Amino acid sequence: MVEHLHVNLGERSYRIEFGADLTSFVHAQIEPLRAAGRRCAVVTDANVARTQASVLDAMFGDLPRLVLPSGEETKSLAEFGRVLDFLAAQRIDRSGVLFAVGGGVIGDLAGYAAASYLRGIAFFQVPTTLLAMVDSSVGGKTGINISAGKNLVGAFHQPNAVAISTGLLATLPLREFAAGMAEVIKYGMLGDIALFRQLEENPLRLDSAELPAVIRTCCAIKARIVEADERELAKEGGRALLNLGHTFGHAIEKVAGYGTYLHGEAVAIGLVACARLSAKLGQIAAEEIARVERILAAHNLPTKLRAPLPLEKLMSAVSNDKKVRAGLPRFVIMNALGDAATRSGIDAALVETCFREVGASG
Ligand SMILES: NC(=O)c1ccc[n+]([C@@H]2O[C@H](COP(=O)([O-])OP(=O)(O)OC[C@H]3O[C@@H](n4cnc5c(N)ncnc54)[C@H](O)[C@@H]3O)[C@@H](O)[C@H]2O)c1
Repeated sequence: MVEHLHVNLGERSYRIEFGADLTSFVHAQIEPLRAAGRRCAVVTDANVARTQASVLDAMFGDLPRLVLPSGEETKSLAEFGRVLDFLAAQRIDRSGVLFAVGGGVIGDLAGYAAASYLRGIAFFQVPTTLLAMVDSSVGGKTGINISAGKNLVGAFHQPNAVAISTGLLATLPLREFAAGMAEVIKYGMLGDIALFRQLEENPLRLDSAELPAVIRTCCAIKARIVEADERELAKEGGRALLNLGHTFGHAIEKVAGYGTYLHGEAVAIGLVACARLSAKLGQIAAEEIARVERILAAHNLPTKLRAPLPLEKLMSAVSNDKKVRAGLPRFVIMNALGDAATRSGIDAALVETCFREVGASG
């Protein structure tokens, strides 16, 4: 039986389907679309096409398929153009449907192509990484990178459905699985202390029996946050809470050079920095920092920079972060473990100390 969750967004509402193997479920979505004369197409990446070839064949049969190079560089203007050209070459019209099958890179890129092509066509998310299953496939943020920065161009475009087939994770490299765990731990820290405690007691592995339930819990947290603040317009809290650890993490990714740390690895260090900041602001006890470090380490994630990065550059990256409002760094901090809030006007000296404590130099 296929389990599901609803994301309630009025006319943009959709279902997230969960199962160990949703191959037949996805396949079954295509027949009625084709029967109704709606042309379908698939975008995926080379690693997914190689490691999940038989699943892709069973899901999509002879549907036109565009296989893009794997990696963050694919979220570019050039590859965006390739997806649009592919859709046009396949004579996809406004009733067409695009299936995005991959990690966050393919989901963001194909989602943005679906948002833009003919001013918007329907698309389905079939996430294949843990990060995409718990985070990027839900919520409708799509986009690409430009040379000025990551995710600077994009659109809100909700998928028509998300199919989370957890068996696809079997071929995911362990380092990528760990990176996805940083986002899972983030959900515990920002809004679910029971999830945090569960992961503390029983670190999650690719073969853990609890994995599907944990993915579902994360999707439920994200769905509720997105429902309340679809376009991240809330003055406080709201969708911005999902950025816990990310202001520090984005700065680390950028200054180290994209690719040095996986996004989730940078977020893990960011979560430690954020726990430190929350403690310095008197919100959480110092012992909680050690708890955060322990849970991350138990999931094979870094808690400190592998090599020092210059503080000055990290601080400059923080002040250029997309989430900055009115020139002041806006951080997500914890009021307690499991309860996050947005906070503006934080003293730069405190942020500097947090960066030093996770290994910045200067
Ligand atoms: N839209 C959002 O709300 C949102 C949220 C968080 C992150 N993101 C974006 O997500 C992206 C990162 O996503 P990601 O971590 O999934 O990266 P990714 O898409 O690059 O996937 C990571 C790697 O795993 C490979 N891979 C994917 N599935 C596989 C499988 N089942 N078996 C074997 N290999 C597989 C990919 O080819 C790639 O090499 C970033 O661009 C980030 O900005 C978006």
